[in-house]
Parts: sequence; C-alpha cells; structure tokens
Amino acid sequence: MRKKIVAGNWKMNKTLDEAVALTSEVVNMIKDEVSGEVEVILCVPALYLTTLKKHIEGVNRISLGAQNCHEKTSGAYTGEISAPMLKAIDIPNVIIGHSERRQYFSETNAQLAEKVNIALENGLTPIFCCGESLDQRQNEDYIGFVKNQITESLFHLSAEQLTSVVIAYEPIWAIGTGLTASAEQAQEMHAALRAHLAEKYGKEVADEISILYGGSVGAANAAELFANPDVDGGLVGGASLKSRDFTEIVKAR
Ligand code: PGA
Repeated sequence: MRKKIVAGNWKMNKTLDEAVALTSEVVNMIKDEVSGEVEVILCVPALYLTTLKKHIEGVNRISLGAQNCHEKTSGAYTGEISAPMLKAIDIPNVIIGHSERRQYFSETNAQLAEKVNIALENGLTPIFCCGESLDQRQNEDYIGFVKNQITESLFHLSAEQLTSVVIAYEPIWAIGTGLTASAEQAQEMHAALRAHLAEKYGKEVADEISILYGGSVGAANAAELFANPDVDGGLVGGASLKSRDFTEIVKAR
C-alpha cells in the first residue's frame, strides 16, 4: 500500500530559535498524540537542516526535507544547494518544482526533470509539485495541463524510479489564499493523475505512488480532503508553521 504522508513546507519562515521551538513542539505533540501509519516530513529552510536533525533523531515517523536543490552536482552556482550536499547530511527528502520556484525562479518542466534525476541519484525522495493557475482552471484544459507537467518531468523515469517519487498536487489558486480546492476538485485531479500514471506505468505502479494535496490545507478541512480515495496526504504551508494546527492535520490523516 502507498504511504500516507503529511509534509510541512515552512518556506522562508522562522529564525533558528523559532525553528527549533516549532520542531520541538511538533515532535512532542506527534509522539504523544499520533498513532497509525502516517509519515511526517518537515521541509524547513536548508540552513536549519543540520540543527533540526538533532531534534528529530530517534523520533518515529518524522523526517526532514529540503525545499529545493540544484540540478547540477556542484559548480559555480552561487547561493544554490546540491543534492549531494543533502545526501551528505542524511536528508531523505526534497521538494522539487514548487509553484513558487516555477513562478519566481522560472523553473521549467525540463529543468525539473533534471532535478528529479539528481535527487533520485542521491537517494533523495523528490516531492514533485504540480498544479494549475486560476486562469488555466477557468480557461484551459486544466487537467491536461497538470498531466503534461508530470509527463515532461517524470515520464522519463523507470517504473522503479517513479515509485521513489511523491507527487504533490497544488493548485496555485489555493496556495496561501485560504481558498482550498473542494474535496471533489482534489479527488478529480488526483484520480486523473493516477490514471495518467497507470497509462504509462500500469495500474500496479500507479497505485503505489503517494499523491498529496496542497493549497490552504488546515485543521478544519484536512479530514475531508484526506477522506478521498486518491488523496494520500497533504503538503501544508501556512498551517505547518503552527504546531497545534499541523498536528491536527497529521491526526486527520
Ligand atoms: P499553503 O501552502 O498551505 O499555505 O496554501 C501550500 C504550499 O505552498 O505548499
């Protein structure tokens, strides 16, 4: 069975002291309150990964992730971090292709395919993000648009490689807006994406891939979203910055 995952995406938030405090709170709440099989991934600013690792060591079900990595192994890319660097500090996950990276840093599907490759080569689990804008939802074949993001960035992978990828569907119009996709809208897209994967890789492989929903997931709507058969968890932005809200979302999965 595919994994149930709730990942927090802290984005560019929290000072080091705040990050340590939030991690400690989340660790304690999850230890005390969460049972079942859900995995929790905290995608924190890269600068804090080494420190925060000490705070989650030995804690069941919680791991860390970076929010991005460069598509090259090393070199003259000022300000960037590489997949081998993440591997060297034992970080198991990395978000690839978040819509903010696509929008503000012009990351393309082809470039993201390279990032996925280098992440996998270094033993990292890519949390590959996809999703359409409001304009695309209203005026275009929005399902076709998101399917194409997956085709162009993931369909060069072998079936075995694909099973190491987590997909996060995040409609851009729902990110940070308080405007969540309805449970039906989420299920419609997730089912379409799983069918797309099945067409290329077969149903058995498609059924193994965790597809997370992201976009204004909160304590109040998580259970309804996660109740959908093709929604395997969430990628949580704003609500992951508050330990109580985030823990409630984890408990809803
Ligand atoms: P949000 O962000 O939960 O604040 O909408 C989600 C994301 O960008 O991953």
